[in-house]
Amino acid sequence: MTTTQPPDEHTFSRSTPVRLWEDGFALDPHRYYDDLRAQGPIGWAELAPGVPAYVVTDRRAALDLLHDTDTFSHDPRPWEATVADDSPVLGMMRWRPNTLFADGAAHVRYRTSLIDTFEQIEPHDLRARVHHAVRVLVGRFGPKGEADLVGEFARPLMALVFNNLFGLPDSQSDRLDVALGKMMEGGAEAAEGEAEFGGYVLELIAAKSGQRGDDLPSRLLDHPAALTPEEVTWQVFLTLGAGHEPTANLVSNALSRILGNPQYYSTLTSGARPMMDAVVEVLHHETPLANYGIHYARRSVSFHGAWIRAAVPVVVSYGALARPHDPNGMGGTPIAEGEVTSGRHPRDASHLSWSAGPHACPVRQHTLLIATEAIERLTQWLPDLEPVLPRARLTWRPGPFHRSLTALPVRFSPRSPDQPGGPS
Ligand code: HEM
Repeated sequence: MTTTQPPDEHTFSRSTPVRLWEDGFALDPHRYYDDLRAQGPIGWAELAPGVPAYVVTDRRAALDLLHDTDTFSHDPRPWEATVADDSPVLGMMRWRPNTLFADGAAHVRYRTSLIDTFEQIEPHDLRARVHHAVRVLVGRFGPKGEADLVGEFARPLMALVFNNLFGLPDSQSDRLDVALGKMMEGGAEAAEGEAEFGGYVLELIAAKSGQRGDDLPSRLLDHPAALTPEEVTWQVFLTLGAGHEPTANLVSNALSRILGNPQYYSTLTSGARPMMDAVVEVLHHETPLANYGIHYARRSVSFHGAWIRAAVPVVVSYGALARPHDPNGMGGTPIAEGEVTSGRHPRDASHLSWSAGPHACPVRQHTLLIATEAIERLTQWLPDLEPVLPRARLTWRPGPFHRSLTALPVRFSPRSPDQPGGPS
């Protein structure tokens, strides 16, 4: 916490809030981040029309906030009392009894059970599940010689992987994919998506409560933390919500960068550089979960020169922070088309894309493995992937929280997984 005098309580009311819900945000997020930075370490924005939020764009302020659990809470309920029932961001921000929205002892209990459960998944097992999912998808679009790597690969891939980890048949995965897509959009279909997603998870936990299997929900049900079936339902709900969309976007953002730069592509596919480099680059420059680090001051407080009112969302902008950092803490310049910075260590977390502090993403290693294996395997099946559009002409989905391509059309030599000569 800073000790500066609280500025005028209306500091931000004099400037126009930066509208993160506008279509222009998806088109050029860095222009919006620049406008936020121009307001200081903490800017003033709207997440939806009439839904204000503070946005942290400074690394020092972000770290201070993420570690200060006495001042900042993850519990949105005081804020919820101030927003309309039909607000499009409620689907993403409404309180649920899960680790993301919990503080203190409840948080530790939920988080530990999730971490213990994920730790039981061996890397070779996860790798095999990812390979299976890629094979299924190549079987669907490979013979066509063209595909949209967002709608036909990255998104259904994550649905297949999670379905598989949850012990469900592949046939259930499309349902999950569609529901989560609607929910993340934060638009008119958000409530419908939330209801469909809820139905999926409720059915899953009911089935596993009746009969355990060798899968994630069964392990959560049997965890020593003794979560009730309802609590397990909420943690699974979160796991899917927190994992599916950002990992799909991590995969598609990485693929778009790789395919947009043929030299880079050949360096990666020849093995001269590890594929994980391309995934880590995305965390540094185009992080998929751009603005979903949401906190609430427990009481109105002065913080890094801004007067933060209680019960107003304080968003740590991983998107604004996910750029090369200059010594003045002002961020660097946006990455140019096809630009890459080489040789970052996967554990170089200067981007903060996994967050920091007690709520930092608990499954970083799993996620890196899933994304890297998926891309590597795809390029083994289809080595001559070629983008249909230059990267500058790709479009991004609207919404304040994510950095997510609408589509990534590609061409390649048609191939079926049954043909001889595929990856072993
Ligand atoms: C298999 C995929 C993933 C799963 C299962 C997953 C799961 C989770 C869970 C359960 C939390 C809440 C932790 C807590 O509150 O204690 C979390 C937090 C977080 N995750 Fe992940 N995650 C996945 C992938 C990703 C990806 C791809 C990103 C982005 C690069 C990401 C970024 C974050 C961030 C920034 C937080 C903190 C959010 C906050 O502070 O409000 N995660 N994740």
